[in-house]
Amino acid sequence: MPRKSISHKLAVSFAVLMFCIALAYALCLRVSLRESLHKQMYNELQFRYSLIEPLFSTEQNLSNWDELKSKLLSLTNAEGSRVRYWVLSDNPEFQIGGIPPEHVDLFALKDGFSQISREEKDKCPLFLLTKTIQYNNGKIPLHLIVSIDSTPYMGTLNEFTRILIFITGFGIVFVTLLGFIISRKGMKPIELLSQQAHKLAPGISGQRLDAALLPEELRGLAEAFNGVLARQEKAWLQLESFNADVAHELRTPLASIIGQTQLALSRKRKNVELEDCLASNLEEVERMASIVNDMLFLSYAQTGKQSPKLTDVSLREEAIKTAEYTEPSFTDRNIRLVIHGDVQACVDKRLFTRSLANLLENSARHAHEDTQVIVDLSCDEDLATVEVRNYGDQIESLHLERLFERFYRVDNSRSQSVTNHGLGLSIVKAVAHMHGGDTFATSSNGINSFGFTLKLKK
Ligand SMILES: Nc1ncnc2c1ncn2[C@@H]1O[C@H](COP(=O)(O)OP(=O)(O)O)[C@@H](O)[C@H]1O
Ligand SMILES: [Mg+2]
Repeated sequence: MPRKSISHKLAVSFAVLMFCIALAYALCLRVSLRESLHKQMYNELQFRYSLIEPLFSTEQNLSNWDELKSKLLSLTNAEGSRVRYWVLSDNPEFQIGGIPPEHVDLFALKDGFSQISREEKDKCPLFLLTKTIQYNNGKIPLHLIVSIDSTPYMGTLNEFTRILIFITGFGIVFVTLLGFIISRKGMKPIELLSQQAHKLAPGISGQRLDAALLPEELRGLAEAFNGVLARQEKAWLQLESFNADVAHELRTPLASIIGQTQLALSRKRKNVELEDCLASNLEEVERMASIVNDMLFLSYAQTGKQSPKLTDVSLREEAIKTAEYTEPSFTDRNIRLVIHGDVQACVDKRLFTRSLANLLENSARHAHEDTQVIVDLSCDEDLATVEVRNYGDQIESLHLERLFERFYRVDNSRSQSVTNHGLGLSIVKAVAHMHGGDTFATSSNGINSFGFTLKLKK
């Protein structure tokens, strides 16, 4: 199921938030209005009571009773039954006021404020003030009750509530719409960004997202994306040049094989000549096989398909063995090989030998004649270092940085070399990485040093 859009989610969140806030406000307002209306009704009851109270306290003469009664009744009539007065007494002669609401026992009301609901559903409660007084010098106890109908007050409250509901509803719809529009507008740069990303065509170098026009929050994302593009581009260029290098390396032996075979077939040859041709072709084919094997090794190493078989060995012993079979290359040019130090480490013996042999062969080839090549084996806390030093011509730092790349050679006239196709140091690097280490190369004061490190504890 597709996930809802961010604008949609934001709009809903705004609506929910607005609803909660508006509801809280509305409830507070309604409660406070209700309280204030109640207060007003109590004040009115007090006021009404203060109007009739003097009738009972000053005119304490029984002969005035009828006059008092008619005054009270005329007051009731004047208000159109919104305000009602009752005088209750045990003696039916001293009762004034109409029939009380059926279900209410007015006698049971205690002094003070009270409210009673009405039988009719559409009528609001009556608010009452009850006081007991002693009439006729304390001889006749009377209950004076003033009541007001709360319908007009409650009408105000209900009207207010209706307006509140309307305003709240309208506010929620308005905020939701506004929230949606604002968040859509806020999301616009993301749309632009994805449009830009869609327009990136494969294979065209230098394409980047335009981060300058984007808001701050998205600039980081666009820059990170551009970083990925730059790295991809670099990797792609490396792959391209690697393909070109491979083709170039294989073309030379292939051309040689074809040329020699065509020459051999151009006329009838003696067996000896044909054997020579085959031997020469075999040499070229072996060179091709060596390139292909090295490339396969590198590819396996890079994809992690080739994992080292680690054994605990003395690196010195392994170095001595390696030195033995590379010795002829050294003796040819009268170069002495010296091994310094020893480290006990867990390595893949075959890979270690192969790496060291590559370094030694390079030294044997590039060291000045009649000099000494030193293999230095050392270690610190968690790294073993294997370094091969020889006296030789200074290597420019521009080359030093790149010598571990595949097919990279200082002397670019590649075809002149039959055995060296520029993968030796790449293999050293791959082996170092497989052992958790890295490679290094320096060239100063006439000494060139190449080497690699291996992690001691795995
Ligand atoms: N000890 C060294 N002295 C000078 N140059 C070296 C040395 N070792 C390696 N190089 C340079 O590094 C390049 C790459 O070495 P490598 O990867 O072993 O390829 P190859 O030996 O097949 O040329 C060599 O072609 C050479 O130019
Ligand atoms: Mg080499």
